[in-house]
Amino acid sequence: MIFTILLAGVTAYVILYYRWVRKYPPGPLPLPLIGNLYHLSAETVHEYVDKIGPDYGHCLTLFLPRPVVFFTDFDTVKEALVAKGDHFIGRSHLPPEIYLHENLMNKQRTANTIQSPQTGVVMSDGDVWKEQRRVSLKIMREHGMGQNIMEAQVNRAIDEMLAHIDNINAENTAIDMTLPLQLCFGNVITETLFGYHFKHTDLEVFEFALDAVIQFIQSMRDNIWVLLVQAWPWTKHLPLVGRKGYSEPIASISKFRHFVQEEIRKIDASFFRSQDPTNFAQSYLLEMEKNPQLNMQHLHAIVVDFWIGGVETSSTTLSWALIAFMEYPEIQEKMRSELLSVVGRERQIEMADKSSLPYFNAALTELQRWANILPFTQFHRCEKNISTKDSIIGGKLVPKDTLTMPQIYSVMRSERIFPNPGEFKPERFLEADGRTASKKHLKHFMAFGLGKRQCLGESLVRMELFLVIGNLLLNYRFEKIGPVDCTPVFGSVIFPKKHKCRVVPI
Ligand code: HEM
Repeated sequence: MIFTILLAGVTAYVILYYRWVRKYPPGPLPLPLIGNLYHLSAETVHEYVDKIGPDYGHCLTLFLPRPVVFFTDFDTVKEALVAKGDHFIGRSHLPPEIYLHENLMNKQRTANTIQSPQTGVVMSDGDVWKEQRRVSLKIMREHGMGQNIMEAQVNRAIDEMLAHIDNINAENTAIDMTLPLQLCFGNVITETLFGYHFKHTDLEVFEFALDAVIQFIQSMRDNIWVLLVQAWPWTKHLPLVGRKGYSEPIASISKFRHFVQEEIRKIDASFFRSQDPTNFAQSYLLEMEKNPQLNMQHLHAIVVDFWIGGVETSSTTLSWALIAFMEYPEIQEKMRSELLSVVGRERQIEMADKSSLPYFNAALTELQRWANILPFTQFHRCEKNISTKDSIIGGKLVPKDTLTMPQIYSVMRSERIFPNPGEFKPERFLEADGRTASKKHLKHFMAFGLGKRQCLGESLVRMELFLVIGNLLLNYRFEKIGPVDCTPVFGSVIFPKKHKCRVVPI
């Protein structure tokens, strides 16, 4: 009798499960409870989805175990993020994204619900996101984002980096460039946010903050336990799942959050409101006095968003640049010779040189395509408050409130648009005349996402990459000391393997 009831229960569950599965765009067969997790043992999610995308018309569902719809070519990504951008503007409000901000965590703990309050820019949506993004952009522009003031700030960070490199390069042996690069990008964003920068001779606080962020990013690598907590929040109370999928990632990011809170506390205590603000935190504190939609929790969250967005992504791109320079020395030489012909040896490179450096510009774009450091955008939730109907992408119905993942990785590795995509080849982004930028290829460049949630720091990053790489090539030649391994290491950011290089002053 008990066995019959059990069998009937299981059968009903399986029937209902597959009926529910049929609501979503088709993908590989999921199994009850574990969904498609069994497909992911040997490959990373982005590689697996890239491989199977064409079989499902570039719009498919994986059950991880929660259903996630992936868009894997330019047309489906553009349809979701631009043509129907308002439908897909929501965020997930789920682990691991909510681990980033304290406020999101608090609400989740007390109310035991997957719906969290909104803080900051990256993880919020609706009216909160609109206002925090608007105010943040306004303040960043007031502090010179994309203009000369910011150029001077980036140049100060570059001077510190060059001094740092000369310091560790004194013995002319092979060096690891990771820390000087992280410090350079860390200094640009720290000066923007807090108004000071770290000296390479006193790195204790910087390394503490950076280690916490890196530990968090690394704890996400191949972390199946986080997916379980994402699908069933109660599993965070189980011993192994709770440790790997919940408490360990939170412990590392909390250290970083405390650093941010302490810096803002000091600025708040010392800033006279009658003064002109000289950094982002001061400007936001002033805005808070007249705008009731702003508060301290948002400020903490935005600073976390910007610091994490600003340091690891940019310095990882630069680590890939060094791999490219070592693996393709002829391209490094060609970039340098164009720089020398335009800038010469007597002065520093400036943003005003940009239009005279077509090959160098093409190489920077190709670098971001080739390194492809963010395989996905953040989650985009098919927003039920905005879209009253389900959405159709690539002719397939995506039910409202579904999580979606536009896959940047596949768009920028499309064999059709970028033949032999694993090769580093700046000419892809130039027309046959070798000077004019190729509009067709630039259209498919998507490193910063697309549409309304496109990267807020894009113009800052473009300036940083231009000035930092320009200065490095004008000052040094980067040589390999052994074989270069271009195999990527996947986390939530795609890192290169660690390599030392010989840095020869020129
Ligand atoms: C190489 C460096 C960078 C790359 C490749 C990059 C790329 C991206 C991508 C792909 C997104 C997701 C877009 C989406 O979800 O649709 C994003 C969002 C964002 N990025 Fe960046 N980013 C970089 C650096 C920065 C920097 C330096 C900052 C801060 C100053 C920043 C701030 C942000 C913010 C605030 C968002 C969230 C935008 C929103 O949700 O409205 N990023 N970025």
